[in-house]
Amino acid sequence: MNAPLVKLEGLKKYFPVRSDKLFSEKEWIKAVDGVYLEIQPGEVIGLVGESGCGKSTLVNLLLRLEEATEGKIWFDETDLTHLSQEALRKTRRDIQMVFQDPFWSLNPRLLVRDIVGEPLTVYLKLSQTQLVEKVQSLLEMVGLPRESLYHYPHEFSSGQRQRIAIARALALEPRLVVLDEPTSAIDILSQAQILDLLMQIKRNLGLTYILISHDLSVVHYLSDRIVVMYLGKVVEEGEADTIFNSPRHPYTQALLNAIPDITKYSLDDLQTLEGSVPSAINPPSGCRFHTRCPMAMEVCRREEPVMLKLGNSHRAACHLLQSNNPKAKRGIP
Ligand SMILES: Nc1ncnc2c1ncn2[C@@H]1O[C@H](COP(=O)(O)OP(=O)(O)O)[C@@H](O)[C@H]1O
Ligand code: SF4
Ligand SMILES: [Mg+2]
Repeated sequence: MNAPLVKLEGLKKYFPVRSDKLFSEKEWIKAVDGVYLEIQPGEVIGLVGESGCGKSTLVNLLLRLEEATEGKIWFDETDLTHLSQEALRKTRRDIQMVFQDPFWSLNPRLLVRDIVGEPLTVYLKLSQTQLVEKVQSLLEMVGLPRESLYHYPHEFSSGQRQRIAIARALALEPRLVVLDEPTSAIDILSQAQILDLLMQIKRNLGLTYILISHDLSVVHYLSDRIVVMYLGKVVEEGEADTIFNSPRHPYTQALLNAIPDITKYSLDDLQTLEGSVPSAINPPSGCRFHTRCPMAMEVCRREEPVMLKLGNSHRAACHLLQSNNPKAKRGIP
């Protein structure tokens, strides 16, 4: 195995809760609360979990859009949490993001040439001709006509606008691309085309992706590995087929297993999980999932389960999986 491209060590992000009360103890929203994760170069990591579980905060920390409260973020063996401005500028090139809604992420007053070319002008000294040539080749790569250069974003369909956003994200030849719900604002007809395009580009350029999507069929189709988050923590991770076919954590099971045909459902359709995600301000004691877990035991309220290695790259944190647990011995769950 290669050295990981990304390694997260005990990563935390706490947001202060604004309070009007004087002298009250300061409260924190524990959006990301001790995440350990390794991502190998060339992998597609699918990050799943209900809304509010900390997925976007986690990737925002990687993109340095947020400062970590605690922990380390290694990117290619450099610790991003302690970087000089100059070094940060360099890694900003290496990690790019494709946002959910290509309408809002593209400046409506700029021509496509300037939208896609902007990162190039910030980082590279190119002549006008070189710039136009480079932008044209990027547009070609994402399947847009060269003439698109001299048009504005509103002249394109949602799928085409997402292609423009992808061209912009790839302009500086990044190594890691974060895709946060990349097709959820795109017309149905273009969605599959955009996903195929993203995979084709990934193979051609040897990229690494982190994919966040509510659409479980998309996550299954694209990801090599799945990481499941619940209330700021990773509860299970493993190869996509393992996670989809034999999830071991009750939360993952509730998310995936109980759905008769995942290709037709998204996380929004879940009926197997009662109630909503508890507040991240005072998360439940012990296992954070105990308030909703159908398998919860006494110990779950008291002790936080540790992450257990279940297979080659399969890990989960649940008391039922402890080897000395009688229920686990009987093969439950
Ligand atoms: N800038 C912020 N300030 C305060 N709270 C935040 C901020 N960003 C996210 N949160 C809170 O952190 C938690 C995780 O949010 P988020 O990372 O957006 O989850 P997800 O992307 O999984 O839906 C939520 O409780 C959310 O309200
Ligand atoms: S540790 Fe307990 S509450 Fe948490 S998922 Fe496992 S059985 Fe459920
Ligand atoms: Mg989010």
